[in-house]
Amino acid sequence: MSAGIHRIVILTGAGISAESGIDTFRSAGGLWEQHRIEDVATPEGFARDPDLVLGFYDMRRAALEKVEPNPAHAALARLEQEFAGELLLVTQNVDDLHERGGSAKVLHMHGELKSALCTSCDMRSPWLGTMLDRPPCPVCQARTLRPDVVWFGEMPYRMDRIYAALERCDLLVSIGTSGAVYPAAGFVQEARASGARTLELNLEPSEGSRLFHESRLGPASVLVPEWVDEVLSRAG
Ligand code: APR
Repeated sequence: MSAGIHRIVILTGAGISAESGIDTFRSAGGLWEQHRIEDVATPEGFARDPDLVLGFYDMRRAALEKVEPNPAHAALARLEQEFAGELLLVTQNVDDLHERGGSAKVLHMHGELKSALCTSCDMRSPWLGTMLDRPPCPVCQARTLRPDVVWFGEMPYRMDRIYAALERCDLLVSIGTSGAVYPAAGFVQEARASGARTLELNLEPSEGSRLFHESRLGPASVLVPEWVDEVLSRAG
């Protein structure tokens, strides 16, 4: 799998953080069984009931302090440090476990819990606290902060950068994502159209499994370190 691999794009989803104790969205008991997407993850839901939405993300932000990165996050950090080629780590996750696991370059296409977006001045600020209490924007002081998270119906971040990398890559590895949400679910087709190999590492077959050249089933904490060892032992 690794012979002649020089440019890798990795896409991660909630499954890579599952073993750290962060709920995924679509598994039994997951976040979208506890809350309705239209209530907490859309601009319309935020306009309708801002307290519900701010409280939902305050709860998820506070939960970050209770979890730790797992061996899958650490393995991707090791890959970043030791892989001689180009690597782009794109995550759909809004948690900070890739960074706390040691990855320095992470592209959060769906935003981050630890970032605040001001709806008055459009500036982003690092954010660790709550928003339900309407704190002032650190830039313009207006009390109009929202979570810097991409909601359904909004455009994910840095798509130009992602598509450029998919066009050039030799390998796309998709880890811990159900393939249920676009545009991320379409990355495998973009990579294949560019002639790249495509590998899926997931606990169970995703909706797009049949589109991958290879799909390995199991927990990320086992599959990702194994795969990183494989790439680093054979990388040219
Ligand atoms: N190891 C590997 N994969 C796992 C593990 C694990 N320990 N546990 C669960 N998974 C897999 C599940 O089998 C599932 O395919 O992770 C995937 C999680 O799927 P979702 O809950 O749909 O999460 P995700 O794919 O990240 O959702 C994509 O949807 O709701 C939006 O914006 C949200 O970024 C999110 C996007």
